[in-house]
Amino acid sequence: MLPELVTAIPGPKSLKFAEELRKYESHNVTYTAPDWPVFWERASGTNIWDVDGNRFVDLTSAFGVAGLGHGHAPLCEVMRKQSERLIHAMGDVHPTELKVEVCKKLSEMTYERWGLGVGKTVLSNSGSEAVETALKTAFVATRRPGVICFGNGYHGLGYGALLGGGFEKFRQPFESQLAEVSLEVSFPSSVEMLDSLRSELDVVDVSKFGALLVEPIQGRGGKVIPPDGFLRFLREWCDTNGVILIFDEIYTGFNRTGRLFACEWEGIYPDLICLGKALSGGYPISACVGRSEVMDKWPVSPGEALHTSTFLGNPVGCAMAVRALMIHHDNSVAADVLKQGRELMVMLEEIDSASIHEIRGRGLMIGIELRNSDGSAAGHIAGQVLSQMLGKGIIMLADGPDGNILAFTPPFHLKLGEMVFVVECLREVLENISPL
Ligand SMILES: Cc1ncc(COP(=O)(O)O)c(C=O)c1O
Repeated sequence: MLPELVTAIPGPKSLKFAEELRKYESHNVTYTAPDWPVFWERASGTNIWDVDGNRFVDLTSAFGVAGLGHGHAPLCEVMRKQSERLIHAMGDVHPTELKVEVCKKLSEMTYERWGLGVGKTVLSNSGSEAVETALKTAFVATRRPGVICFGNGYHGLGYGALLGGGFEKFRQPFESQLAEVSLEVSFPSSVEMLDSLRSELDVVDVSKFGALLVEPIQGRGGKVIPPDGFLRFLREWCDTNGVILIFDEIYTGFNRTGRLFACEWEGIYPDLICLGKALSGGYPISACVGRSEVMDKWPVSPGEALHTSTFLGNPVGCAMAVRALMIHHDNSVAADVLKQGRELMVMLEEIDSASIHEIRGRGLMIGIELRNSDGSAAGHIAGQVLSQMLGKGIIMLADGPDGNILAFTPPFHLKLGEMVFVVECLREVLENISPL
């Protein structure tokens, strides 16, 4: 147990900042309910401290970014040194050696490691941009505009990334501005669903579709793990039909699931892989890496790149990414994640609650699905759990279109005492909330 972790309550500073934010930030961005505002001040390892001095255990890795832990010393050191030397360069005109190193390391850790030759990279700043690079690449390579994507997939909120379909609530308000090129099929969570997917794809007019975009495990969609054979089927289908297979490993990449990349669970590799979040451990940098034959369909830049951005290859981000990649390349990280994931899973499975429908996960990407007694999604219970756990000093999020999947994606070095504390708190919270 962690006696020093006491009830965390929104303090005066957080409440004041929330009020100011409501005044100055567009109201569609930050959720500032009265019992919720927590403004972070600092973080270390698995813990976060807010501006009012509350300490929290982080079960989110801050959206999956801080797998190696908050304030990871070697990453901070690299960042400090690089920011003193050169903060910004001209990524596609006068880049730095660091950009070369990142691209080389990404190739070594993906396509070269998979025995598929050199992988070529386009860097960017956010996950959604990496997805957009992939979709553009697929179009450049095939000249077919269509994108096959999966229900409840999440690929970011840029217009391009929204072509990857997914959550209705994010797409629908902008539907009339989105090109009508997407076809959404169902993401299978069972062998039967995989069979229906085969039938769904059987009747697709493939002449229209150049890209198939998929998360090997759905993250924000609810930690949905597809049956074995799913990725193999997609690989074969794409090969047969000349469609570019894109794996979005922005969330699952870099050991989150107990393998360097989640696709390695099946040993099936994409034409393009999108990476972000944990790539640098905290600096906004993302990448689309692809097989050379596909990436080389892009025209050579005549001096005015067809696809680039101001901050592409930012030296601080690249320096941190190179260091983070070296750490992630060590097999011991995946082994640790698997061990921790197993321990956490065993403890979670011991919670006896009528609201728990299923606990599933791989490595440290675990979801608890909550349902009401009539079988419907219990998003309202998840909401109460998050709020009450926050009050106990635990930061967590809920996933899925109905927000009823409690998500566990902590930094990789959650201490045993913290695990016990988290599970005990969750047990207590669930005991006191009754399903509808
Ligand atoms: C699988 C996946 N792809 C893409 C994104 C979008 O990344 P970003 O928010 O950096 O644009 C996310 C973000 O959660 C994600 O989980």
